[in-house]
Amino acid sequence: MRLLEVSPENIRVAARGIAKGHLVAFPTETVYGLGADAMNELAVAKIYKTKGRPLNHPLIVHIACRQIIEYWADDVCDYAFKLADNFWPGPMTLVLTRNRKAKDFITGNQSTIGLRIPCEPTALELLNEFRKLGGFGIAAPSANRYGAVSATTASAVREELEQHLDVKNDIILDGGSCQIGLESTIIDCTTSVPIILRPGAITKEQIAKSTGIQVLERTSNKIRVPGMLEVHYSPKARVVLNSLPTIGQGFIAIESILTPAGSIRLAAPRSVVEYARDIYSALRSADTQHLREVHIIEPEGDGLAAAIRDRLRRAANTNKAK
Ligand code: TXA
Ligand code: MG
Repeated sequence: MRLLEVSPENIRVAARGIAKGHLVAFPTETVYGLGADAMNELAVAKIYKTKGRPLNHPLIVHIACRQIIEYWADDVCDYAFKLADNFWPGPMTLVLTRNRKAKDFITGNQSTIGLRIPCEPTALELLNEFRKLGGFGIAAPSANRYGAVSATTASAVREELEQHLDVKNDIILDGGSCQIGLESTIIDCTTSVPIILRPGAITKEQIAKSTGIQVLERTSNKIRVPGMLEVHYSPKARVVLNSLPTIGQGFIAIESILTPAGSIRLAAPRSVVEYARDIYSALRSADTQHLREVHIIEPEGDGLAAAIRDRLRRAANTNKAK
C-alpha cells in the first residue's frame, strides 16, 4: 500500500490506479471511503475482501456529476432530482431504482442503487479525473473493517486496512481529517414519499426548509442497510452510554461536563458539530490506549445530534455480542 499526500498529481495517480482495478482509500467530507471502479467486478470484489464484508451488502457509488445519475438509475422521481439539486455535492446518498448497468456485484442483488456526489474537494477531483479516464463511478464503503469504527483520518484507514491492502498497488490518499466525521444521510427515493434509512448531517428539518419535501424516518423497511445493523461502529472497548466512568475508564462528553477523577477524557467537544467530527477518533483512541470500557454522554437535540446518538447506540450494542 502506498500512502500519498493529496496533490493534483497524486490524485491523477490514484485515478489511474482505480482505472487499473486497484483500490484507493480517499477522504470525503463524511468519512474515508475505500474506492474501486464500480464497473469492475474483480476490483469491487477486493473491496469486500479487504473489509471482510458480506457480499450481499450493497455499496454506494460515488459519481462526479448529476448527469451520471441516469447512467445508473431508472425512473428517478422528481423529488429525488430536487434533493440532488439542493444537497449535492454533499453528505447525502440517494437510493434509486437501478438499471442494467448497475450490476448485482454493486447492489448486493437488490433492485436499487445508492448514489452520492461528495463535496470534499479531493473526492470530487478524484471522481473528475476518473471520469476523464472513462469511469462512471467509484464504489466506496467506509474504509474500515466490517462492523468496526469508520475512519476519519488516513492513519485510521492505515490502522484498519494496511494488512489487507495490496502492498504495491493500493493507495491511501492522505487528505487530513474529515470535516463532518459521520457517514452520509441515506434516503430511499423509490417510494412515493422519501424515507431516511440512515440519519446523517443532512437532516429532515433542513430538507423541509430548503425544498419543502417532507421526509419520513425509517421505522422498518425491507431494504438492507448494514449501517442499520444493531451492532456496528464499535471499538473493542465496551461502550456504556449515559453513565459516568470510574478510575481508568474512558470518557466522552460535551466540554461542559467535567471529567470524573481518575478517568481518561477521550474527547471534550464544544458543540454537536465538533462531537460528530471527533467521535470516531475518540473511540479509536480508547482502543489504542487499550481501555476496557468507555463511558459516553450522548449529545442532546435533533438533527446531527440524533445521527450521533444513532451511531453511539449501535456502538454500545456490541456489549450484547461480547
Ligand atoms: O458517507 C458515506 O456514506 C460513506 C462515504 C465513504 O461516502 N460511505 C459509507 O458506506 O458509509 P458504507 O458502505 O460504509 O455504508 C453505506 C450504507 C450501507 O449500510 C449500505 O448497505 C447502504 O449504505 N446502501 C448502499 N446501497 C444501498 C441500497 N441500494 N439500498 C439500501 N442501502 C444501501
Ligand atoms: Mg460503513
